[in-house]
Amino acid sequence: MSLNKTLTLNDGNKIPQIGLGTWLSKPGEVANAVEVAIKAGYRHIDCALIYQNSTEVGEAFKKTIPSVVKREDLFVTSKLWNNAHKPELVEAAYNETLQELGLEYLDLYLIHWPVAFKDGKDLVPKSEDGKQAALDRQTSIVDTWKALVKLQKEGKVKSIGVSNFTTDDLDAVINATGVTPAVNQIEAHPLLPQDDLVAYAKSKNIHLTAYSPLGNNLNGKTKIVDYPQVSEVAKKYNADPAQVLVAWGVKRGYSVIPKSVTESRIKSNFDQLELKDEDYEKVTSLYKELGKVRFNVPKTYVPFWDIDIFGEEAEQGATYKVNRGN
Ligand SMILES: NC(=O)c1ccc[n+]([C@@H]2O[C@H](COP(=O)([O-])OP(=O)(O)OC[C@H]3O[C@@H](n4cnc5c(N)ncnc54)[C@H](OP(=O)(O)O)[C@@H]3O)[C@@H](O)[C@H]2O)c1
Repeated sequence: MSLNKTLTLNDGNKIPQIGLGTWLSKPGEVANAVEVAIKAGYRHIDCALIYQNSTEVGEAFKKTIPSVVKREDLFVTSKLWNNAHKPELVEAAYNETLQELGLEYLDLYLIHWPVAFKDGKDLVPKSEDGKQAALDRQTSIVDTWKALVKLQKEGKVKSIGVSNFTTDDLDAVINATGVTPAVNQIEAHPLLPQDDLVAYAKSKNIHLTAYSPLGNNLNGKTKIVDYPQVSEVAKKYNADPAQVLVAWGVKRGYSVIPKSVTESRIKSNFDQLELKDEDYEKVTSLYKELGKVRFNVPKTYVPFWDIDIFGEEAEQGATYKVNRGN
C-alpha cells in the first residue's frame, strides 16, 4: 500500500513524507533510480550539490516532467554546500544547482551543514598539510541563514531550511532573524532517535526529515536494515526490513528519504506499512539494547573537519565550535 501522505510545513507548503535519497548514487545509476522512483509514485527527491550527480538527476526530471508528473506535483530538495556560505555567494550557488537539475525553482533549499569552508572552486578546500578541511571562521550560520531568507522573500525558492543543526544552532538563527526554518534534515533511525530535536522541533513547528533511515550508506558499517531484530519485526508483516525502518520514521512524524539505486528496493521502500504500537516499541528499544550510533560525524572524515558539531565523543578535542554569530 502506498499512502504517499504529505505533511504541511510551517510556511504552508506540503512535503511528501517518503522521498528518494541520492547520496552516493553513482553517475550511470542515479538517473535511472530517479526515473524509476517517479514512475513508482515518489514525489519527493532529495539532492545536494556535494553529491555531484545533480546533472544526471536533472536528466531524469527531463524524462518525467511533464509526461509522468507535473513540476508542481514534485518536491525537490537540494542543499547549499559549505564553500558558498558567504551571503554574497548563496544566490549563485542556488542558481548553479537549478541549472544542474534543469529546474526553475526548488521546493526546499537547505544549509547542508552548520559549517563554512573557505570559498573558492574546491568543494572541500584543504589546510596546508592536506589533512583538514579549511574552515571559514568568519561566516556564521546566521549570516548564511539571512541569505536563504532573502532568496525565499524574492520568490526564488518555495521553502527554506537547514540540515545537521542542533537545537542551539536552530535557536541562534531563529533568534537572530525571527524566521524559523521549515525543515531540519538530520540523521535519524532507531539507533539515533534524536528525542531532544523531536521535542524541540515540535515546539517550534519545524519539520524533521530523517536521513540515513536504513542505517547509513557509509561503507564497512552494518546497516540497521541488516539487524536480525529488524528482520524479525518485518517477518510479522511479510515485509522487508527497510519497510519497517521507513514505517518507524513515519510513525515518528519524520519525512523519510531512503536511498537506493536498485529498482526492486526503490519500489518496496515506497510500499508503506503501518507499524503496530508494540512493534514500534520493539524497534525503538533497539537503541536501549545496542546503544546510540551516529554514523555521520565530519570530525572523522578524510580530510577531517576540525569542528564539534554534535557534541559527540568522537568530536572531543576539536578546535572549533559552530559559529552561531554570538
Ligand atoms: N543532510 C545530510 O547531511 C545527509 C547525510 C546523509 C544522507 N542524506 C540524504 O539521505 C539519504 C539517505 O541516507 P543514506 O544514503 O545515508 O542511507 P540509507 O538510505 O539509510 O541507506 C542506503 C543504503 O541502503 C541500501 N538499501 C536501500 N534500500 C534497501 C532495502 N530495501 N534493503 C536493504 N538495503 C537497502 C542501499 O543500497 P542500494 O542503493 O544498492 O540499493 C544503500 O546501500 C541520502 O541518499 C541523502 O539524500 C543527507
